[in-house]
Amino acid sequence: MRSSYISRGYGHLLKALTLVSGPGVCVEVGLLDGYSMLIIGEAIRHSGQGHLYAYDLFEDYPYTHATYDAIADRITRFNLDKVVTLRRNDAIAAAADFDDLTLAMVHIDISNTGEIVRQAIEAWDSKLKPGGLLLFEGGSPLRDEVGWMKTFNRKAIFPELCSNSLLRENYTTTVLHPFPSMVLCSKNPTTDTAVQKELGFDLAEGRSLHGEIAEEELLRDLFPNA
Ligand SMILES: C[S@@+](CC[C@H](N)C(=O)[O-])C[C@H]1O[C@@H](n2cnc3c(N)ncnc32)[C@H](O)[C@@H]1O
Repeated sequence: MRSSYISRGYGHLLKALTLVSGPGVCVEVGLLDGYSMLIIGEAIRHSGQGHLYAYDLFEDYPYTHATYDAIADRITRFNLDKVVTLRRNDAIAAAADFDDLTLAMVHIDISNTGEIVRQAIEAWDSKLKPGGLLLFEGGSPLRDEVGWMKTFNRKAIFPELCSNSLLRENYTTTVLHPFPSMVLCSKNPTTDTAVQKELGFDLAEGRSLHGEIAEEELLRDLFPNA
């Protein structure tokens, strides 16, 4: 299975982010062989909540891609048919499939460039709930220097992150630099008490240490195969 995320263990991060996001209704655009899709889908299945809508252009993309049928088979093999809905659509057009303020997490990984990131923020921002996560592959200044970005004269991502007004106004944003790098954008919450409750802040008053785990369970819970 091909994925630039494999070498630095980004799969662990995607699993953690899926769980932290709710999990609720999630979207991934850009599947290739399905590495990140399967991890997000498995995290949702394991938690018993949420759903993943997974998009790609498949055979309609002229560069490296997998076929629709190969990914559909893989979803079935991983027992994720009830959790993952596979769709063929473009990264920007797909946003029209969702109502505003309904999504917990959106992950965009389509050979990202500054132009793609700008368009995706515009398309998906209104769909994310407060506290929701907008994730992009790439974003580090070093990732902007990779060969194909230069060869095809693509617009760099990092300057777009620094100048994007929607991102500045609506999100708290971090770039993780290890290759291939990733941008984590957490949509800022509102002062609405219903929003704060959904983010778990109703539990902060009175009994802030509401989560408990026995010492002997700690590593077993976080590292089940250790
Ligand atoms: C870098 S790969 C995705 C890697 C994958 N997320 C992983 O974990 O390995 C990029 C994928 O984006 C798809 N793609 C490219 N442009 C797209 C677009 N505009 N809309 C939807 N999918 C697109 C390609 O077909 C390809 O499968």
